Amino acid sequence: MNILVLGGGGREHAIVWALAKSPRTDTLFVAPGNGGTASIAQNVADLDAENGQAVVAFAKEHDVELVVIGPEAPLVAGVADVVREAGIAVFGPSAQGAQLEGSKTFSKQFMDRHGIPTARYASFTELEPALAYVRELGAPIVVKADGLAAGKGVIVADELEDAEDAVRSCFDGAFGAAGSTVLVEECLTGPECSLLAFVSGGVAHCMTTAQDHKRAFDGDLGPNTGGMGVYSPVPTVTPDELAAMREIMETAAAATANEFDLDYRGVLYGGFMLTPEGPKVLEFNARFGDPETQVVLPRLESDLVDIMMAVAEGRPDDINLRWSEQWAVCVVLASEGYPGSYEKGKVILGIDEAEQIEGVTVFHAGTSRNFDDELVTSGGRVLNVVALGDSFEEARECAYDAVDLINFEGKQYRTDIGAKAIEGRKEF
Ligand code: AMP
Ligand code: GLY
Repeated sequence: MNILVLGGGGREHAIVWALAKSPRTDTLFVAPGNGGTASIAQNVADLDAENGQAVVAFAKEHDVELVVIGPEAPLVAGVADVVREAGIAVFGPSAQGAQLEGSKTFSKQFMDRHGIPTARYASFTELEPALAYVRELGAPIVVKADGLAAGKGVIVADELEDAEDAVRSCFDGAFGAAGSTVLVEECLTGPECSLLAFVSGGVAHCMTTAQDHKRAFDGDLGPNTGGMGVYSPVPTVTPDELAAMREIMETAAAATANEFDLDYRGVLYGGFMLTPEGPKVLEFNARFGDPETQVVLPRLESDLVDIMMAVAEGRPDDINLRWSEQWAVCVVLASEGYPGSYEKGKVILGIDEAEQIEGVTVFHAGTSRNFDDELVTSGGRVLNVVALGDSFEEARECAYDAVDLINFEGKQYRTDIGAKAIEGRKEF
């Protein structure tokens, strides 16, 4: 069958790569795609992925039988609703379901209604009451823009002054309309763990655990980013914690069926903090994680087309997930300056050499081809270097050996991805 994937980051490259392995796949389109997807799919540069009617028109013209929505923006814009309405199978929740990600206040209220453990919070649309609440709770404290901010709208403040500045900058428009409502949250402590689930018909099929590294620099220092590296599975998670996270995902999935008319058909992403009182939800996302997908899908042995069609058609009983025993580690190579401003157009060398290492796959995140057909950087996060190995150490070593072979001016990355898995759990 012909499949259209919306999006153009590392997550979409990994999705396209996994779909391409299925015998059921004929032509794969990806809009807009990137320099990496171009070698395994047809990039469609001029399709507006946030315009549902345009997506339907393209799908009809090219006999597309499945539309897969990667990023959050088209979901929140209601593209899944329009495509489903047109009678085409779509992998991705409705606009209403996507509000679990599109509004942190909506998401918190959903968690409250269903008894899902999360940090205490209050949300504000005015400066003074927000500042008063910050002073009442005291530091450390967390300030979040309510809306979509590409993973950057969260400020964990150790000092009261920083929290107050964060509240002011949200209301001053640092995150655009996303910051016109501000959440102030209790600061939780503990290791983080992501658990994604395929959700359809109110049923959750949990994937395997992964641990993202959100801060820009080694030692979890610097600003929050979209994610600088990830590994899977997470060996420090205890069986009790895993059971608690799975139960939360099942509760949330069942609730989506009641609240969103069974139209939640896609991925529910649970971002957890493993606190001393048990796992608590930091956030829900309505899509595959980026970069979690880049380590989760390479470990998936079942056919992704079968799974996505079962999800899209509301047949959760037909979903059968099999996972490889191997470990996966992903190191993100970013442009100098990310998550702040950065230059583009730097020539990238060494990917082919890196992929000669057994078990290594390089997913592209922000790359394109220039007029001379050279591969160049075109985003903040540029490449995701993924390695599979029979042990965690082997996967990590291969990933960093591959990183050393790839070069572009200003290459920035963390050297400690997975260090926490090796050291074991720190006590909090
Ligand atoms: P979010 O986008 O809500 O997952 O937040 C991004 C990152 O900020 C998380 O991965 C955590 O590292 C951190 N964070 C978010 N909420 C909290 C919280 N309540 N306490 C401590 N850290 C948090
Ligand atoms: N890895 C974080 C996210 O996808 O939101």
